[in-house]
Amino acid sequence: MTPPRAKDIAYVRFQVPDLDAAEKWLSDFGLARASRTEDALYMKGGNGAPFAWVAHKGEARFLGLGVDMGDDAMLDALAAKTGVAPATNAEPGGGKIIRLTDPDGFTIEAVLRPHGAPETLPPRQKLNDAREKARLNAQSAPPNGPARVWRLGHAVVNVTDFRKSEAWYKSHFGLITSDEIELAPGATLGAFLRCDQGTRPVDHHTLFLVGTGKPGFNHAAFEVTDADALLSGHHVMKEKGHSHAWGIGRHILGSQIFDYWRDPFGFTLEHWTDGDLFSADHAPSKQSLEQLIGTRWGPTAPAHMA
Ligand SMILES: [Fe+2]
Repeated sequence: MTPPRAKDIAYVRFQVPDLDAAEKWLSDFGLARASRTEDALYMKGGNGAPFAWVAHKGEARFLGLGVDMGDDAMLDALAAKTGVAPATNAEPGGGKIIRLTDPDGFTIEAVLRPHGAPETLPPRQKLNDAREKARLNAQSAPPNGPARVWRLGHAVVNVTDFRKSEAWYKSHFGLITSDEIELAPGATLGAFLRCDQGTRPVDHHTLFLVGTGKPGFNHAAFEVTDADALLSGHHVMKEKGHSHAWGIGRHILGSQIFDYWRDPFGFTLEHWTDGDLFSADHAPSKQSLEQLIGTRWGPTAPAHMA
């Protein structure tokens, strides 16, 4: 039996009390409306995926994640492992879906969704830095405004029992370890997990499970075009008076330039760009808490991010 292997994360699913407030905030954050009903809001990035964030009307709460299985063979492999047959997906984008429940009771949806055409990105700005002058007789003209989100890159979920959740996600989605975080030798807090796509390099992490003992949503992170977009987006969010959570900085583990914001319901969403990519043969490592919360530059993680 082929072990199932996920291709990427697809979306995060919430319940929030005010869909209008959510849409306004997420528009400033750089997501665009994909679909809206009386009691649900779907928001998308620019990469052609039907949606990357969805919420249903209700008391604020994290419901779960969507996981992109990539192709029919992998969705069928998951169906064979779980005994759950793929169903027709009635949500925007359609396709097929297998609904599962993870060890902490979150709904994890394995999906196969046809993507639309990706948006055309603004051209890359040539840089004149101290090493090299690449832009001559031309201005740098990156777009102003919100950091247009390209895609959902990863989610971080706090779990009751790290080893139990790790085993579940690895066996259902073929995730592999990039970095395991040790509080002390042998005392593991959690791990950055990535998708196994063989020789095709993937994000340093797609899912980070943190064994806090108290299950819940930690944050979700959206890739933006580049550093100019991230910085432009930071100023838009600041001007709108939105609540800033952490950054701007560059992570040590994963290397992303990051900027974290708190949405109106208390959920933390991150902008990032320029992250590490690893192929499946890249060896896992053990890292310290200092490496996790520290930065190459920028502030270390505030206590409320833990
Ligand atoms: Fe993150």
